[in-house]
Amino acid sequence: MKATVIVGCQFGDEAKGKMVDYFAGGVDAVARFQGGNNAGHTVIVEGKKYVLHFIPSGVVRGLKCVLGNGMVIEPRKLLEEIEMLRGLGIEPDLLIDQKAHVITQEELDKDAKDSKIGTTKKGIGPCYEDKAARTGIRVMDLLDKGMVSDDYYGAGQKLKQYIGDASLALFGMKKVLIEGAQGTMLDIDHGTYPFVTSSHTVAGSACSGLGIGPGTIEKVVGITKAYTTRVGNGPFPTELEGADGEKLREKGKEFGATTGRPRRCGWFDALIVKYAMRINGINELVLTKLDVLDGFDKVKVCVAYEKDGERVEDLPPNLDGWKPVYDELPGWENSKVASYEELPKEARGYIEKIESLVGVKITMLSTGPARDEVLKRP
Ligand code: IMP
Repeated sequence: MKATVIVGCQFGDEAKGKMVDYFAGGVDAVARFQGGNNAGHTVIVEGKKYVLHFIPSGVVRGLKCVLGNGMVIEPRKLLEEIEMLRGLGIEPDLLIDQKAHVITQEELDKDAKDSKIGTTKKGIGPCYEDKAARTGIRVMDLLDKGMVSDDYYGAGQKLKQYIGDASLALFGMKKVLIEGAQGTMLDIDHGTYPFVTSSHTVAGSACSGLGIGPGTIEKVVGITKAYTTRVGNGPFPTELEGADGEKLREKGKEFGATTGRPRRCGWFDALIVKYAMRINGINELVLTKLDVLDGFDKVKVCVAYEKDGERVEDLPPNLDGWKPVYDELPGWENSKVASYEELPKEARGYIEKIESLVGVKITMLSTGPARDEVLKRP
């Protein structure tokens, strides 16, 4: 089996869903390895918008979708998602790994009290806490009446047909697309701890979260927005609080797919994406939502941080108190064109600037939500 892993380079919400859909051609399955319904993908089917939280967007193409052992699953919510898909005429082809952990009511109640991190309140952190404490409930336990509440047992019976061994199934496949949720800066080790999610979001975690070996990973694709956003609390050096931030939020429709919260918005931070490139071993980069920057007179790129007279060009371990140093570039009017060559020269200049700062080739650009609003780099 050979796998391509897609990961977010920033704080999540890099518009990975659309790119997963793009890269899913010719694969045997799309798999997730971490997180749960804290993630949200907006998919457009026959002009209608639907938000998926557990199931990869590949399900809309009729692909097999694997929920790996590294995930945390709220069975009642997963059933709701399956029912929603059925209502759309899509019978999902799912495989839920038996070793994935189950988000319990107690874990949901505990997460509901969070005020420090600004979590999605889906029980994610408490579920991973119980997993690490070795007191967690696993998907296989849903099939044991003595292990779970009647409610969860009932959900388990409805999910039974999908429960199995993901590692074994993947081992027998040829080509698999692996989809990361959240983003590199929300990784529990490599992100802005403690303002992170409770799982490993980086590409290396795909192996342990699915039961596959590192040698199966052929390519790592990093997805980055042409600017930066963050939901929830925690440091964000390039955050914009004035009119430019508002303009990015409105133009980019930057409101959380899971919680509806307005996303914090700011300029592109090259230190973050350069870091993501190293931590994930990214081979190619996709730049999304370039069109949101259309119509700005000037665009800024953060090329360094400064604090107390010190200047750094590599991401420091703690982002608190660092101020961004910007290069200012000329803006452009319209990036919604048919080919890379037709992009305004200023937009091409912006892309090349990012490439030179991050040190990896941008192979593709997304310039709108539709499937065909993608520009391939020659
Ligand atoms: P949790 O994952 O619900 O525990 O939330 C921890 C942090 O990660 C919070 O700041 C959330 O807003 C953020 N977060 C979790 N999932 C996502 C996501 O899919 N996109 C963006 N931020 C997320």
